[in-house]
Amino acid sequence: MLKPRDAIQALEEYHPPLGGREGLRLDFNENTVGASPRVLRRLQQLTLEDLARYPEREPVEALVAAFLGLETEAVLLTNGVDEAIHLLCETYLESGHEAVIVVPTFAMYEISAAATGARVVRIPAREDFSFPLEAVRAAITPQTRLIAIANPNNPTGTLVAAEGLLQIVNAAPQAAVLLDEAYYEFCGQTLLPSIRHHANVFVARTFSKAYGMAGLRAGVLAGPPAQMRMVRRVASPYNVNIAALIALPEALQDNEYVCQYVGQVQRGRSLLEEEFQSRGMAYCPSQANFVLAQIGSAHAAFVAAMKQRGILVRDRSSDPGCDGWVRITLGSERHTETLLTALRQVLAELRINPEVVA
Ligand SMILES: Cc1ncc(COP(=O)(O)O)c(C=O)c1O
Repeated sequence: MLKPRDAIQALEEYHPPLGGREGLRLDFNENTVGASPRVLRRLQQLTLEDLARYPEREPVEALVAAFLGLETEAVLLTNGVDEAIHLLCETYLESGHEAVIVVPTFAMYEISAAATGARVVRIPAREDFSFPLEAVRAAITPQTRLIAIANPNNPTGTLVAAEGLLQIVNAAPQAAVLLDEAYYEFCGQTLLPSIRHHANVFVARTFSKAYGMAGLRAGVLAGPPAQMRMVRRVASPYNVNIAALIALPEALQDNEYVCQYVGQVQRGRSLLEEEFQSRGMAYCPSQANFVLAQIGSAHAAFVAAMKQRGILVRDRSSDPGCDGWVRITLGSERHTETLLTALRQVLAELRINPEVVA
């Protein structure tokens, strides 16, 4: 009988709640208004011939590398950061190895790492969701071959300072350290330059968040050229589709569009945090395009009531250490107004206040 590998049989199915997402989607950290209009105009010019040909990734890769201030050999375009994670796991992990992650965090690290047969070592974040630097350092062993850190982290929005990250990088030269900067544009801190000075650092970026192109699936993996040559061996030459490749140069050129969108998100983030602050409700101060807030035992009713008002938010209660916490994505200024109006109504209707939450 055909039998999948043991590591695959042991995996749990992962089904993000993608179905029936009608309304204002503040549940997946997407851009709420979409990509630059220039991207759409370019996509509308796609021809049948474009569709018939296998996509050529390298010229666009060179453009993206130049945009990031890196040499082309240091950069691989991927089918979203999801694929970058998968490729790193395939390149560096096998049975007997360990992958270190800090939970709660982005689900794909654990899935891709466990699928290789490696053991996933889950270090809990501190109670306030800050990064447990000492515990991570203590978890590093000679078998540690991957350490994946989302910075800022999803679902908490917390950011680890560069110094702490570099301590980990130096403490584990035998491990690929992935610094996943999917939310970089909303915080501005990057360790991209460190790939020049450290042989085991990889940085990932995405076009799914600030750039509003999650549907096109385009991500970037940057790392030391010698290691990237190995990662490229695993990647399909056609991993990034023609629509994404055609869209990327336009997206990069319309920097103004991204900057103004990021500005709206950052202002919305302050307003939402002030709202929770003024009510005495706990939230996790965020450097990303979302805020994780403690709603308490009414979390499911809260998510349902928001949905009734046409707003989707994400219950993170089943994440480690997140019982009662809900993640809310910020979008355009107009969408933040809509969000705040509904939020106030729902909190009043369900009588959610700090005493109830505590
Ligand atoms: C930390 C983090 N990394 C990666 C991703 C996925 O990015 P992409 O759409 O490029 O695969 C997400 C999406 O939510 C994320 O939160």
